Amino acid sequence: MSTYLQTVETVYEQAARAPEANLCCTQSPVWRLPDLHVPPIMLAMNYGCGSTINPRDLKPDDTVLYVGVGGGLEALQFAYCTRRPGSVIAVDPVAAMREKAAENFREALKLNPWLRPDFVRILDGNALKLPVESNRVSVAAQNCLFNVFMRDDLDRALAEVIRVLRPGGFFATSDPITPMSLPDAFRADEIARARCLSGCQTFDDYLAAIVNVGFGRVEVRARFPYRLVTPAEYPSLSEAVLLESVEIVAYKVPDSFDGPAIFTGRTAIYRGPHETHTDASGTILPRGIPVAVSDAAAARLAGDPRMLVTAATFHATGGGCC
Ligand SMILES: C[S@@+](CC[C@H](N)C(=O)[O-])C[C@H]1O[C@@H](n2cnc3c(N)ncnc32)[C@H](O)[C@@H]1O
Repeated sequence: MSTYLQTVETVYEQAARAPEANLCCTQSPVWRLPDLHVPPIMLAMNYGCGSTINPRDLKPDDTVLYVGVGGGLEALQFAYCTRRPGSVIAVDPVAAMREKAAENFREALKLNPWLRPDFVRILDGNALKLPVESNRVSVAAQNCLFNVFMRDDLDRALAEVIRVLRPGGFFATSDPITPMSLPDAFRADEIARARCLSGCQTFDDYLAAIVNVGFGRVEVRARFPYRLVTPAEYPSLSEAVLLESVEIVAYKVPDSFDGPAIFTGRTAIYRGPHETHTDASGTILPRGIPVAVSDAAAARLAGDPRMLVTAATFHATGGGCC
């Protein structure tokens, strides 16, 4: 195993033994849903950098693979939506983290009458070689883990995710991103990498990694400030860098008319003389109504004077064309 992966495991072994409020440090609230009671220890071990759960995406017959269980906070919320034996499979290579998550689930069982001990299976498993057969799950999720991987390992982890997903299934992911290439010396800081600060990709590189493994549709659900890292804290930086976090849902579906469809919240609005317009992809655009379009479709349509194309909001919530 590479030394940096060993460092990652050591950092999370410690974070399992002594919960650390400032590790990863998401401000995203957990879901407040009827009869969902999150044990305080799971909240204290919120090591995510966003959220990967939206009940609107989930069906009771979904089977979820959760990579990097942490304290179990998100696995519990997925189980709330699926509620079947084995419907959430959570993997983690760090024994202390698996044990702590199992202990936290025992707390959750006392608070949540709907929860059964067999809804969530916690397995010894590594993102780089998932212990799950191909096409096994309809949903895969990871929160604030893949950013720690060097680019080759990130590609490997994403290839594993798409392997285990059924066709039509989706991958919900949340990670920090950087506005610029980070200095090599900072990237080489294994502790900062393990703590989700120095390994992250730029937004474009992160999206490219996702589409390169074969996801045909990608929705950028959210993008927001995550952490200011400064030379005072990290002398290998020459200037302060404001890292952002992204929440993305990527679907294992074929490419669309314009190739892999990345939705960043752009819309196209037909403003021509007719009631509707059918574009080259076959999509019908009613006059005056914004239709969500992929970035590639937006670039194609922007050249048409009958179209108004709106800017990215980084809040793409589904639907739309091409
Ligand atoms: C930043 S924490 C995120 C935990 C959880 N996703 C959350 O949002 O609270 C990273 C998690 O990934 C686990 N982990 C570390 N290396 C891993 C690997 N190679 N494969 C899978 N999980 C790993 C750690 O033990 C830890 O539980």
